[in-house]
Amino acid sequence: MFKVNEDYLKLRGSYLFSNIGKKVNTFAAEHPDASIIKMGIGDVTQPLVPAIINSLHDAVDEMGHIETFRGYAPDLGYEFLRKAIADNDYKARDCQIEADEIFISDGAKCDSGNIQEIFAKDNKIAVCDPVYPVYVDTNVMAGRTGSFDEKSETWSDVIYMPCTEATNFAPELPKETPDLIYLCFPNNPTGSTITKAQLQEWVDYANKVGAVIIYDAAYEAYISEKDVPHTIFECEGARTCAIELRSFSKNAGFTGTRLGATVIPKDLKSGDVMLHSLWARRHGTKYNGAPYIIQRAGEAVYSPEGKAQLKDQVAYYMNNAKCIMEGLASAGFSVSGGVNAPYIWMKTPDKMTSWQFFDYLLEKANVVGTPGSGFGPSGEGYFRLTAFNTYENTVEAIKRMQKL
Ligand code: MLT
Repeated sequence: MFKVNEDYLKLRGSYLFSNIGKKVNTFAAEHPDASIIKMGIGDVTQPLVPAIINSLHDAVDEMGHIETFRGYAPDLGYEFLRKAIADNDYKARDCQIEADEIFISDGAKCDSGNIQEIFAKDNKIAVCDPVYPVYVDTNVMAGRTGSFDEKSETWSDVIYMPCTEATNFAPELPKETPDLIYLCFPNNPTGSTITKAQLQEWVDYANKVGAVIIYDAAYEAYISEKDVPHTIFECEGARTCAIELRSFSKNAGFTGTRLGATVIPKDLKSGDVMLHSLWARRHGTKYNGAPYIIQRAGEAVYSPEGKAQLKDQVAYYMNNAKCIMEGLASAGFSVSGGVNAPYIWMKTPDKMTSWQFFDYLLEKANVVGTPGSGFGPSGEGYFRLTAFNTYENTVEAIKRMQKL
C-alpha cells in the first residue's frame, strides 16, 4: 500500500495566494455587479514592452526554420542570456560573477522553493517574519521545520527574525545560529530595504558561522534610493556565503511568460563540495530549461531599447506606489514600504486583524489586498497592497479606501 509524504500533511491550509483567490472568486460569484480591484498577489498588469515582443517574434520565426530551429536548451541556460545577466547585473556593478555561475530557470518562485533540496535535512533555517511563504512551506514539505505550534503560529525548528516597526521592518542577527538564512530585499511583503552596510553585516555573520544566505533579489529594479544594494554580491565576502535568486517577473513583466536566474558562485563550498556542482546536477536531472524563445525575450531586457522601456514601466508602477502611499497617509492610515519596492505595508485600522480587514475591504470597497498575517505571525495587524494594478484602478481603489 502506498504511503504519502507525511510532511505535506503538516502544511497549513492552501498556499496563501490560492486561498485569497478562492475567497475573491466566492465573493465575485455572490456579488456579480461588484467591480473588484485586485491589489493582492504581486502580479503585473502592463504588457510586455516592444523590445521584448520583437525579440519573441524573431525567436518564434527562428523556430519555424530548420536552420535556426532549437530543441532542448542547454541545461544551465543559453550562454547569450547568462552573459547578458553577468555583464549587466553584476560586472556593470563591479561584482565578480561569471556567466557560468548563473543558472537560468522558469522563475524565482521555483528556484526559491527548490534550492533547499541541495542542503541536508537537519540544516536549520532562519526566516524573516513576515516572510514570502514559499521559503517556509517548501522546507515544511522537505521535513525540515519540526512541528507547528497553533498558539504562536510558528514551526519548532525554524528561527524567526521578527521584522516589525521597532526594527524598521529589518531583521536582526538571530540569537540561535542558523545554517540557511533567507533574506529578501527590497522586501516582500513589507517593501522595506537595508543599506549596503547592513547587508555586509549579514555577509560577515554568515561567513563567520558557516551559514548560507539565500538572497531573493526579485524586486531589485524598484530600488530608487542610493546606498541600497542591488545584489548581495556588492558585499565583500558574499562569494563564499551567498546564493542569489533573480526574477524577470517584476522588472520586465514575465509573471506569465516565466523566467528567472539563480547565481551560485563557485567559491561557495561545504568542505570540498561546490554548491554550484550540486545545483548543476539537480538542474541537469530535473529540469529541461526555460524555452529558447523566452530566453531570447529575457536577453531583450538588457538591450538599450529594452532597458529604456522597462525603466518607464517600473516608473509607472512606482507612481502607483506613490499614489497609494500618499492617498492612504492623507486618509490617516499608517503606511510604509513603497519607496524602493512595489509593495505598501499598512497597519490595519481600528485594531482589526489582517483577515478581518481583508473581508472588510473586499465587502465595503471591493478592493483585494493580502493579509499580513498570511506572511507570518509578526504580520498580524498589517495588510499588503501592490502597486502592480493599472494607474486608473489604483486611483479608484485609493478613493474607495479614503471613504471607508
Ligand atoms: C507575491 O505576491 O508575493 C508574489 O507575486 C508572489 C510570487 O512572486 O510568487
